[in-house]
Amino acid sequence: MTSGQLSRAGALACSGCRHACHVMLYCDTKTQLFGRIPIRHIILMQMRFDGLLGFPGGYVNPSEETLEAGLSRELLEELGVALPISAEDHVDCCHAPASSPSSTSRLITHFYVKKMEEEQIKEVEKEAASTATDHGQEVLGMVRVPLYNTKNGGGLAPFLSHSFIGNARSQLVDFLLRLDMIAPEELHKALAHSLKIHTHT
Ligand code: APR
Ligand code: MG
Ligand code: MG
Repeated sequence: MTSGQLSRAGALACSGCRHACHVMLYCDTKTQLFGRIPIRHIILMQMRFDGLLGFPGGYVNPSEETLEAGLSRELLEELGVALPISAEDHVDCCHAPASSPSSTSRLITHFYVKKMEEEQIKEVEKEAASTATDHGQEVLGMVRVPLYNTKNGGGLAPFLSHSFIGNARSQLVDFLLRLDMIAPEELHKALAHSLKIHTHT
């Protein structure tokens, strides 16, 4: 279900472009925080070595491997689990802004979304903290995205006020809406509040 301005095939036709693939792994859950706030979904992100939040994944070289095989390889390193990713899970790709005015190789970022069972997500969290080779090095830890807003303004708003790598924040916000994981009014409230948190720190 690739969408956006760049198609998967168009992206792969770009000569001299570098590619990075990242995935949003998620599941539904009936768990409630404090026994009363529905968590609704578990969405996995990670605290990276550079102190930024991002999705699992990384650089892929399409002349050596398919995008999906490369993403699976990155997931094995970062999560410690061999997760099959299919071209059908590819939901978006776009040109990343140039990292510096002189940078010559353009980066295309591919985004995938994969829905899993709650038990599988918990298994990923367990392996990511134990057997993953990148644990404690490129990946400092997995984090769940709090989708709720508490009475005191906790939850999604402070989460969104952190710093994210590349376009990870907009990928998250975009797919929360597209996958109907949060009501648009609730998301817009959290976005507005997250900006206020930013300006006060
Ligand atoms: N999440 C993470 N990174 C993203 C995202 C996203 N949602 N979207 C785009 N990117 C971009 C970032 O600019 C990032 O630097 O993709 C780039 C590559 O992704 P990484 O996950 O950082 O790549 P990985 O192959 O896992 O790690 C290699 O080691 O050599 C260093 O600094 C180098 O970050 C690089 C890392
Ligand atoms: Mg990696
Ligand atoms: Mg990575």
